[in-house]
Amino acid sequence: MTTLRPLPSSAKSGISAMYQSSIGKKILTGLTGLGLVAFILAHLAGNLLLFISPNAYNQYGHVLESMGPLLWIVELALLGVILLHASIGLQIYLNKRRARPVDYATYQSVGQPSHQTVSSKTMIWTGITLAVFMVWHVVSFKFGPRYPVQVSGDVAPIRDLYRLVFEAFQTPAYTLSYTGALVLLGFHLRHGIWSALQSLGLLGRRTLPMATRLSTAIAIGITLGFLAVPWAIYTGLLGS
Ligand code: HEM
Repeated sequence: MTTLRPLPSSAKSGISAMYQSSIGKKILTGLTGLGLVAFILAHLAGNLLLFISPNAYNQYGHVLESMGPLLWIVELALLGVILLHASIGLQIYLNKRRARPVDYATYQSVGQPSHQTVSSKTMIWTGITLAVFMVWHVVSFKFGPRYPVQVSGDVAPIRDLYRLVFEAFQTPAYTLSYTGALVLLGFHLRHGIWSALQSLGLLGRRTLPMATRLSTAIAIGITLGFLAVPWAIYTGLLGS
């Protein structure tokens, strides 16, 4: 007869146990990173409504706001995922630095081709810059001025998000700093997506080169998609 032995008291469950081990940390960064890519794709789709019409974009913002407490829950979950992703990323970087305080002058791989690229070597710096960018972005857009706009058929005016975004990207300072941040986002995603697939054990010898090309293509697509908004406004392609 098989007897069920109780779990050792030191056994920790779920996320907490993963957080303690180095393989668990890699898996958690991968999972949270892919979750953030999903958010970024949804956010990009929402932003591209600016090209449909001011009304389409404002209605999209209004639908989100109308979700009330459900939106707060989603936002809190998003904040949690961002903090978890950033804190584990920082720990992985610090552990690597402790293990090898001085960088190799050149990277030479033995056997397998090296996956060291500008993107992989700058993950910590692109990550920190994106964290600062996100705080500035949320303060100036989400918590920025609330211009009212009356939409035909609606009783009360809704928030004119289109005007807010339009005003921001008429200034060269905003357009240029967003361009810089979005290029860094592209670099972060290029290595991040590949690394997440690798950490989750989804890549084999044959799928590896394809995954490199795929993550580069997704990173470029996301960067260009986001860049289209500030530059269309700045160059006058998108009118007020
Ligand atoms: C041209 C590029 C972008 C534009 C025009 C844009 C626009 C906006 C706007 C208008 C909001 C406020 C929405 C609302 O209050 O309902 C917002 C929120 C936000 N954006 Fe962006 N965004 C851009 C790029 C990005 C990027 C690259 C990231 C992440 C790397 C990002 C992350 C966020 C986050 C986390 C929020 C807060 C979401 C929430 O709390 O509901 N945005 N964005």
